[in-house]
Amino acid sequence: MQIFLRHSSLSSKERIEISTMTYLSREDSELLREALRSYSGDCCLEIGFGYGSNLLSLRGRFNLIIGTDVQRTDGFERLGESDIDTVLADGATCFRSRMFDLVLINPPYLPSEEILDKTIDGGCGGFEVAGRLLGQALPTLRSEGKILVLLSSETSKTDFDLFCRDHGLSARLVTCRRLFLETLFVYELQRIDCIIP
Ligand SMILES: C[S@@+](CC[C@H](N)C(=O)[O-])C[C@H]1O[C@@H](n2cnc3c(N)ncnc32)[C@H](O)[C@@H]1O
Repeated sequence: MQIFLRHSSLSSKERIEISTMTYLSREDSELLREALRSYSGDCCLEIGFGYGSNLLSLRGRFNLIIGTDVQRTDGFERLGESDIDTVLADGATCFRSRMFDLVLINPPYLPSEEILDKTIDGGCGGFEVAGRLLGQALPTLRSEGKILVLLSSETSKTDFDLFCRDHGLSARLVTCRRLFLETLFVYELQRIDCIIP
Protein backbone atom coordinates (compact mmCIF):
# COMPACT_ATOMS: atom_id res chain seq x y z
CA MET A 1 0.00 0.00 0.00
CA GLN A 2 1.29 3.47 -0.80
CA ILE A 3 0.42 6.74 0.91
CA PHE A 4 1.44 10.32 0.24
CA LEU A 5 3.40 12.06 2.96
CA ARG A 6 5.49 15.16 3.22
CA HIS A 7 8.80 14.47 4.90
CA SER A 8 10.71 17.17 6.80
CA SER A 9 14.12 16.17 5.42
CA LEU A 10 12.97 16.42 1.81
CA SER A 11 13.35 19.60 -0.15
CA SER A 12 10.32 21.83 -0.03
CA LYS A 13 9.66 21.20 -3.71
CA GLU A 14 9.51 17.46 -3.31
CA ARG A 15 6.32 15.57 -2.76
CA ILE A 16 7.06 11.93 -2.98
CA GLU A 17 5.38 8.65 -2.56
CA ILE A 18 6.49 6.84 0.56
CA SER A 19 5.49 3.28 1.27
CA THR A 20 3.94 2.54 4.65
CA MET A 21 6.81 0.20 5.50
CA THR A 22 9.27 3.12 5.42
CA TYR A 23 9.88 4.66 8.84
CA LEU A 24 10.25 8.38 8.36
CA SER A 25 12.77 10.26 10.44
CA ARG A 26 11.32 11.01 13.89
CA GLU A 27 12.64 12.24 17.25
CA ASP A 28 14.31 8.88 17.87
CA SER A 29 16.10 8.93 14.49
CA GLU A 30 17.23 12.51 15.14
CA LEU A 31 18.55 11.71 18.60
CA LEU A 32 20.53 8.80 17.20
CA ARG A 33 21.97 11.08 14.49
CA GLU A 34 22.97 13.63 17.11
CA ALA A 35 24.82 10.92 19.05
CA LEU A 36 26.48 9.72 15.85
CA ARG A 37 28.23 13.03 15.24
CA SER A 38 31.29 12.12 17.30
CA TYR A 39 31.89 8.72 15.64
CA SER A 40 34.22 7.92 12.75
CA GLY A 41 36.20 4.91 11.57
CA ASP A 42 36.63 2.43 8.74
CA CYS A 43 33.44 0.35 8.39
CA CYS A 44 30.00 0.87 9.83
CA LEU A 45 26.63 -0.84 9.56
CA GLU A 46 23.12 0.32 10.31
CA ILE A 47 20.63 -2.46 10.99
CA GLY A 48 17.15 -1.32 9.93
CA PHE A 49 18.15 1.80 7.99
CA GLY A 50 14.58 2.70 6.98
CA TYR A 51 14.71 5.81 4.79
CA GLY A 52 18.51 6.10 5.08
CA SER A 53 18.97 9.49 6.78
CA ASN A 54 21.24 8.11 9.52
CA LEU A 55 23.51 6.47 6.94
CA LEU A 56 23.68 9.65 4.86
CA SER A 57 24.80 11.57 7.94
CA LEU A 58 27.83 9.26 8.24
CA ARG A 59 29.26 10.00 4.79
CA GLY A 60 32.83 11.26 4.91
CA ARG A 61 33.44 9.76 8.35
CA PHE A 62 33.58 6.06 7.41
CA ASN A 63 35.19 4.44 4.38
CA LEU A 64 32.53 1.77 4.03
CA ILE A 65 28.91 2.43 5.00
CA ILE A 66 26.35 -0.37 4.80
CA GLY A 67 22.70 -0.61 5.75
CA THR A 68 20.35 -3.54 6.02
CA ASP A 69 16.61 -3.60 6.29
CA VAL A 70 14.29 -6.57 6.40
CA GLN A 71 11.68 -4.70 4.34
CA ARG A 72 12.11 -3.11 0.92
CA THR A 73 11.81 0.46 2.21
CA ASP A 74 12.05 3.54 0.01
CA GLY A 75 15.53 3.99 1.47
CA PHE A 76 16.82 1.40 -1.03
CA GLU A 77 15.89 3.62 -3.95
CA ARG A 78 16.96 6.79 -2.16
CA LEU A 79 20.46 5.44 -1.49
CA GLY A 80 20.64 3.57 -4.79
CA GLU A 81 22.82 6.15 -6.57
CA SER A 82 25.01 6.83 -3.54
CA ASP A 83 28.22 5.20 -2.34
CA ILE A 84 26.33 3.57 0.53
CA ASP A 85 25.68 -0.16 0.22
CA THR A 86 22.25 -1.49 1.05
CA VAL A 87 21.20 -5.08 1.64
CA LEU A 88 17.73 -6.53 2.01
CA ALA A 89 18.43 -8.83 4.95
CA ASP A 90 17.38 -9.90 8.40
CA GLY A 91 19.60 -7.98 10.83
CA ALA A 92 23.28 -8.69 10.39
CA THR A 93 23.02 -12.37 9.51
CA CYS A 94 24.59 -11.87 6.07
CA PHE A 95 27.95 -10.50 7.25
CA ARG A 96 31.15 -12.26 8.14
CA SER A 97 32.51 -11.77 11.63
CA ARG A 98 34.63 -8.84 12.85
CA MET A 99 33.84 -6.45 10.01
CA PHE A 100 32.55 -3.28 11.66
CA ASP A 101 33.90 -0.54 13.91
CA LEU A 102 30.40 0.71 14.54
CA VAL A 103 26.94 -0.82 14.31
CA LEU A 104 23.94 1.41 14.85
CA ILE A 105 20.43 0.27 15.57
CA ASN A 106 17.21 2.17 16.09
CA PRO A 107 15.13 -0.97 16.51
CA PRO A 108 11.38 -1.33 16.76
CA TYR A 109 11.21 -0.90 20.54
CA LEU A 110 7.57 -0.67 21.61
CA PRO A 111 6.18 -3.63 23.58
CA SER A 112 3.77 -5.67 21.47
CA GLU A 113 2.09 -9.06 21.64
CA GLU A 114 2.80 -9.73 17.99
CA ILE A 115 5.12 -8.35 15.36
CA LEU A 116 2.63 -6.86 12.92
CA ASP A 117 4.46 -3.62 12.04
CA LYS A 118 8.18 -4.27 11.72
CA THR A 119 8.99 -0.58 12.10
CA ILE A 120 7.63 -0.28 15.65
CA ASP A 121 6.61 -3.63 17.18
CA GLY A 122 9.39 -4.69 19.53
CA GLY A 123 7.73 -7.86 20.82
CA CYS A 124 7.61 -8.99 24.43
CA GLY A 125 8.72 -6.17 26.76
CA GLY A 126 9.78 -4.15 23.72
CA PHE A 127 13.25 -5.69 23.81
CA GLU A 128 12.59 -8.97 22.02
CA VAL A 129 13.45 -7.76 18.51
CA ALA A 130 16.19 -5.39 19.73
CA GLY A 131 17.83 -8.22 21.66
CA ARG A 132 17.80 -10.46 18.59
CA LEU A 133 19.31 -7.73 16.39
CA LEU A 134 21.96 -6.88 18.99
CA GLY A 135 22.82 -10.57 19.27
CA GLN A 136 23.37 -10.69 15.50
CA ALA A 137 25.44 -7.51 15.57
CA LEU A 138 27.92 -8.65 18.20
CA PRO A 139 29.91 -11.19 16.11
CA THR A 140 30.25 -8.63 13.29
CA LEU A 141 32.07 -6.15 15.54
CA ARG A 142 35.81 -5.73 15.44
CA SER A 143 37.43 -6.31 18.82
CA GLU A 144 37.16 -2.69 19.92
CA GLY A 145 34.00 -2.06 17.91
CA LYS A 146 30.98 -0.32 19.36
CA ILE A 147 27.22 -0.52 19.01
CA LEU A 148 25.01 2.54 19.30
CA VAL A 149 21.47 1.54 20.13
CA LEU A 150 18.41 3.68 20.69
CA LEU A 151 15.88 2.50 23.27
CA SER A 152 12.89 4.03 25.01
CA SER A 153 11.51 4.17 28.54
CA GLU A 154 8.78 1.92 27.06
CA THR A 155 11.39 -0.80 26.45
CA SER A 156 12.16 -3.21 29.28
CA LYS A 157 15.34 -1.92 30.97
CA THR A 158 15.57 -5.18 32.92
CA ASP A 159 15.78 -7.19 29.68
CA PHE A 160 18.36 -4.77 28.29
CA ASP A 161 20.52 -4.93 31.45
CA LEU A 162 20.32 -8.74 31.46
CA PHE A 163 21.34 -8.85 27.81
CA CYS A 164 24.39 -6.67 28.51
CA ARG A 165 25.37 -8.74 31.53
CA ASP A 166 24.97 -12.06 29.71
CA HIS A 167 27.04 -10.85 26.74
CA GLY A 168 29.79 -9.14 28.75
CA LEU A 169 28.92 -5.65 27.51
CA SER A 170 29.29 -2.25 29.08
CA ALA A 171 26.44 0.16 28.35
CA ARG A 172 27.29 3.86 28.48
CA LEU A 173 24.46 6.35 28.21
CA VAL A 174 25.47 8.75 25.43
CA THR A 175 22.41 10.97 25.37
CA CYS A 176 18.73 11.00 26.22
CA ARG A 177 15.69 13.11 25.43
CA ARG A 178 12.42 13.46 27.22
CA LEU A 179 9.34 13.55 25.01
CA PHE A 180 5.74 13.96 25.99
CA LEU A 181 5.01 10.33 26.81
CA GLU A 182 8.39 8.65 26.86
CA THR A 183 12.12 9.20 27.24
CA LEU A 184 14.54 8.13 24.53
CA PHE A 185 18.03 6.86 25.33
CA VAL A 186 21.08 6.22 23.16
CA TYR A 187 23.54 3.72 24.63
CA GLU A 188 27.02 2.85 23.46
CA LEU A 189 27.76 -0.85 23.94
CA GLN A 190 31.23 -2.30 24.02
CA ARG A 191 32.72 -5.61 25.12
CA ILE A 192 33.96 -5.13 28.68
CA ASP A 193 37.19 -7.07 28.04
CA CYS A 194 38.05 -4.70 25.15
CA ILE A 195 37.61 -1.39 26.94
CA ILE A 196 40.88 0.49 27.14
CA PRO A 197 41.06 2.18 30.56
C1 LIG B 1 12.30 2.35 14.21
S1 LIG B 1 12.63 2.03 12.51
C2 LIG B 1 14.18 2.97 12.32
C3 LIG B 1 14.45 3.42 10.91
C4 LIG B 1 15.71 4.31 10.77
N1 LIG B 1 16.87 3.59 11.16
C5 LIG B 1 15.58 5.56 11.59
O1 LIG B 1 16.30 5.70 12.59
O2 LIG B 1 14.75 6.41 11.24
C6 LIG B 1 13.19 0.34 12.56
C7 LIG B 1 13.67 -0.21 11.23
O3 LIG B 1 14.15 -1.55 11.45
C8 LIG B 1 13.72 -2.36 10.38
N2 LIG B 1 13.75 -3.76 10.85
C9 LIG B 1 12.87 -4.39 11.67
N3 LIG B 1 13.25 -5.67 11.86
C10 LIG B 1 14.41 -5.85 11.17
C11 LIG B 1 15.29 -6.95 10.95
N4 LIG B 1 15.05 -8.16 11.49
N5 LIG B 1 16.38 -6.77 10.16
C12 LIG B 1 16.61 -5.57 9.57
N6 LIG B 1 15.81 -4.49 9.73
C13 LIG B 1 14.73 -4.61 10.52
C14 LIG B 1 12.36 -1.83 10.01
O4 LIG B 1 11.96 -2.22 8.72
C15 LIG B 1 12.60 -0.32 10.17
O5 LIG B 1 13.09 0.23 8.96
